[in-house]
Amino acid sequence: MQRIAVFASGTGSNFQALLDAQARGQFEAAAIRLLVTDRPNCGAVAKAQAAQIRVAAFTPKQFPAKSEYERAILQVLREEQIDWIVLAGYMRLVGPDLLQPYRNRILNLHPSLLPAFPGKDAIGQAIAYGVKYTGVTVHLVDEGMDTGPILAQQPVQVEDTDTVETLADKIHQVEHKLLPSVVADLLRYPIEIEGRTVRILKESRKRDETTRIDQRIG
Ligand code: GRF
Repeated sequence: MQRIAVFASGTGSNFQALLDAQARGQFEAAAIRLLVTDRPNCGAVAKAQAAQIRVAAFTPKQFPAKSEYERAILQVLREEQIDWIVLAGYMRLVGPDLLQPYRNRILNLHPSLLPAFPGKDAIGQAIAYGVKYTGVTVHLVDEGMDTGPILAQQPVQVEDTDTVETLADKIHQVEHKLLPSVVADLLRYPIEIEGRTVRILKESRKRDETTRIDQRIG
């Protein structure tokens, strides 16, 4: 059984999409075990409670430093024996205390076609720039801001009449399908990483203990 933690800071519509995918059986022998949030009152928390998922809510400013905050999170991840972390609207840069034990095991969802428009307000940035296509990226997390190797992308057309709100709606619809499908693939198939290029080896047999990137959680 592979165990997943979702990190979220906001509404949690993508967290809900992951819960729905799990309920449909899309993740086979895997389970979402934990919601981690830096905003104890965010919408994602209510969604976790409704689904009876454990919530680990932390207020970062109550910790003397980021390192202590992340080590508190790590303790809960270990208690729950978490294998995969999915950042679904988690508005913080992940630091070394989480990255090191979960290298290549942390995914992020970003509302643009990276490397265009990293960071905050990617949808507003795309509108302001006047691009005709933007989209959604799911990538592995590294030390940078939205810089990790890309797992999947899907374009979304920007119409002349789009506003930040209408474009955000379109992007969310794409996210709600793309993120669960990438998570399902990663649970099922091994991946190969060569430089910045990630290949999901769908033609190979199911993920097992010999998977090249498999690392024990240290
Ligand atoms: C998504 O658009 C995601 O791409 C970005 O934050 C948003 C989270 O939305 N990182 P929600 O909380 O899942 O509704």
